[in-house]
Amino acid sequence: MYAQFYRDEVRTMINIDKLIIGFDGALRTLLTPAQTLRSVPGSELPEAELTDIEKRLSCALMRVNHVGEVCAQALYQGQGLTARNEAVQQTLMQAAREETEHLAWTERRIAELGGRKSLLNPLWYGGSFAIGVVAGMLGDKWNLGFLAETEHQVGAHLAGHLQLCLIMTRRAVPL
Ligand SMILES: [Fe+2]
Repeated sequence: MYAQFYRDEVRTMINIDKLIIGFDGALRTLLTPAQTLRSVPGSELPEAELTDIEKRLSCALMRVNHVGEVCAQALYQGQGLTARNEAVQQTLMQAAREETEHLAWTERRIAELGGRKSLLNPLWYGGSFAIGVVAGMLGDKWNLGFLAETEHQVGAHLAGHLQLCLIMTRRAVPL
């Protein structure tokens, strides 16, 4: 009886720890500048000369990408919070940490283009976090399947953005 009570207490404490870590992650993602250890890809390249319209479009694309990185943070943290397997939890938390660099890169590019981040980021974060929590609660098989499909969709989305950027760059700097 006492052992059961003790186990429940420990489990509650662990869950509270996880919630605090999740809340901390949300605050860091939404309110503080993201940090990167690796250099920003493309920072060694000369800036393309873009027209105002191309710059605005480029900035809009990067804002969408940044939202995607915010959502990735929230998804991984939500999934990690409810994942049943310890190894899956650790992998998801590590993935969230790695995504922080993408967040920093997109943030920096938005600033270089003179734009701003989405004002709806808290909403995107909350929605993605909730989806991640539900995916984790469905079990590791569904959780990892959801993760794989999300990455697949992100890859397809980024390929579309790259095509648009290439078209703009070729117009600005004939190759
Ligand atoms: Fe990313």
